[in-house]
Amino acid sequence: PHPAHEFCAAAAGGGGAGSCGGDGTRILIKGGTVVNAHRAEVADVYVEDGVVVAVRPNIPVGEDNVKVIDATGKYVMPGGIDPHTHLEMEFMGTVTIDDFFSGHAAALAGGTTMHIDFVIPVNGNLTAGLESYKHKAEKSAMDYGFHMAITKWNDEVSKEMEVMVKEHGINSFKFFMAYKGSLMVTDDLLLQGLQKCKSLGALAMVHAENGDAVAEGQQRMIDLGITGPEGHALSRPPVLEGEATSRAIRLAKFINTPLYVVHVMSIDAMEEIAKAKREGQRVIGEPVVSGLVLDDSWLWDPDFATASKYVMSPPIREAGHNKALQAALSSGILQLVGTDHCTFNSTQKAFGSDDFRKIPNGVNGIEERMHIIWDSMVETGKITVTDYVRVTSTECAKIFNIYPQKGAIMEGSDADIIILNPKGSFVMGAHTHHSRSNTNVYEGRKGKGMVEVTISRGRVVWEDGTLNVAAGSGRYIRTPPFGYLFDGIEKSDAAYRASLRAPVQRSKAAA
Ligand code: URP
Ligand code: ZN
Ligand code: ZN
Ligand code: ZN
Repeated sequence: PHPAHEFCAAAAGGGGAGSCGGDGTRILIKGGTVVNAHRAEVADVYVEDGVVVAVRPNIPVGEDNVKVIDATGKYVMPGGIDPHTHLEMEFMGTVTIDDFFSGHAAALAGGTTMHIDFVIPVNGNLTAGLESYKHKAEKSAMDYGFHMAITKWNDEVSKEMEVMVKEHGINSFKFFMAYKGSLMVTDDLLLQGLQKCKSLGALAMVHAENGDAVAEGQQRMIDLGITGPEGHALSRPPVLEGEATSRAIRLAKFINTPLYVVHVMSIDAMEEIAKAKREGQRVIGEPVVSGLVLDDSWLWDPDFATASKYVMSPPIREAGHNKALQAALSSGILQLVGTDHCTFNSTQKAFGSDDFRKIPNGVNGIEERMHIIWDSMVETGKITVTDYVRVTSTECAKIFNIYPQKGAIMEGSDADIIILNPKGSFVMGAHTHHSRSNTNVYEGRKGKGMVEVTISRGRVVWEDGTLNVAAGSGRYIRTPPFGYLFDGIEKSDAAYRASLRAPVQRSKAAA
């Protein structure tokens, strides 16, 4: 029998770690450049019982039971927070190969200390879905939160959403506009869901692709005899992502509730987000690492095992989309970086060897995200070091309302900290990664920057290339509703209602 499914009580609410996290470890990180999203400064960081106790220059090395780490010439930053992962998810007739232990080990080795995973309801039932994910997360080795997918609609689901927010610390719900016949929702459901999210102060998230058109596109490819992995990209082009993104944004505008678009993979989708933002709408766009640095040429590789690794939805796009997404991240059109870590090994990918529609969708990234964003965005001068912290950690903590417990190195914050050596370098691949997958979409990728130390709630879990993780040590982080994206929504609703009854303003133009 497993332990009772009770989340650590001390994790409730934001701000400050509880007694269950710390194990008495004291750490003093000396001489590094401490980077928060709002400023970088040379300072020491003192950690006790899983919490940051002091951040200032020249903290004296006092007692001898303090572990001192020299960070001179290195960056001391909040651990990464991955807003988008799928650990041990049942999907397309199989289960993702990384669970809450191997996924966490991989994350920690790559400098990520928290993630938010998507609970999938069981036959549409949210409570059963949550029970199942609580059980999966018993082997967790780092802190985690949950989003909840909504896959069907009735009064019970509507009531359960309220229970999820008020009792279980879930403040975000994902609607899949694709995966017809399994997870896909109709516009009718999406509208109901947006309305409910708004009333609960919960963030609506969308997987934006037109699922009906995707099904049509898939049949078109099969009719043409295109059954290989390239058929995946050809069957669901950017126009279908742009259409669904635009539709979701407009429906969210009609309801007047914030919207979070997950895995923005194309210029088409990004432009819809840019346009809505220009008009003042609260829309968040999340690019993922694969979309930022890969291109779809891999899908044409004659070797099925190679090509099928790159099958994910929406598809990785042709070269050009990636650079445009990077530019959008630099300029703030897109705000934070996820991975959509959803890993299947080559045996699982082979389920679709004669029909691309059966290739389980998903790529790795939870271990690679921090290094790839550093190398491709900071090393190239596209974003600053403070922006790096913002897009990999702080923005996620703010959106999901757990800042500054997470996403910052400040007095009272959880001691989730990484030390990155900008003079270091990395090489990625299946032989050295910590994921259980036997493949890696970043195989052979080299770059600058190395996460040398990862501290998870005050424990050094990654140092000198060695992992020291414990199953069951992770803690559920509740995400409270009514995060900053909801500030002012009531006021704009009131202004809208007033405008409906206002007398018509006639033009005063001179005759
Ligand atoms: O291909 C993907 N993205 N697999 C994970 C499920 C999803 O759509 O996020
Ligand atoms: Zn259990
Ligand atoms: Zn998705
Ligand atoms: Zn996903």
